[in-house]
Amino acid sequence: MKTMKRFKSLALLLPNKFLENDTLIGFIAGNSKKMYTGLTFYLAEFCINNQIQGKGYGSKLLLYLEEELKKRDIQSIYLLTATGGLAEAFYLKNNYIVYENRVVMKKNL
Ligand SMILES: CC(C)(COP(=O)(O)OP(=O)(O)OC[C@H]1O[C@@H](n2cnc3c(N)ncnc32)[C@H](O)[C@@H]1OP(=O)(O)O)[C@@H](O)C(=O)NCCC(=O)NCCS
Repeated sequence: MKTMKRFKSLALLLPNKFLENDTLIGFIAGNSKKMYTGLTFYLAEFCINNQIQGKGYGSKLLLYLEEELKKRDIQSIYLLTATGGLAEAFYLKNNYIVYENRVVMKKNL
């Protein structure tokens, strides 16, 4: 519930520049978490309307999120994405790094 409230306040802060013809250009969803290093944000979903991808909106929205997180004393962002795809290229362009100290693990149930 606390997380939902946090999302809500971020959503309410989105300025009109993230609307095109009154349509939302995309969204980011995630949650913050307290780690031993401080507060971090797990970016769980990020999507730009597929009609307008590649026009710079994703980078602008990501930068906007980063500024809002800084105001909330959040010091880092982490996320999972497919290796070698367009999304990885997008994050690398936005100065994200591949974090070598962690491994993704999975078990089918
Ligand atoms: C990934 C995503 C959020 C990026 O937003 P965007 O507005 O398309 O990206 P920008 O225009 O700011 O940046 C463009 C760069 O991102 C990369 N990129 C990623 N997806 C792209 C797409 N569908 N079309 C064009 N460029 C894309 C390219 O490296 C591009 O750089 P280039 O123009 O030099 O080739 C968006 O394309 C998207 O929603 N994709 C589908 C869902 C997804 O992959 N989400 C991330 C999973 S964690």
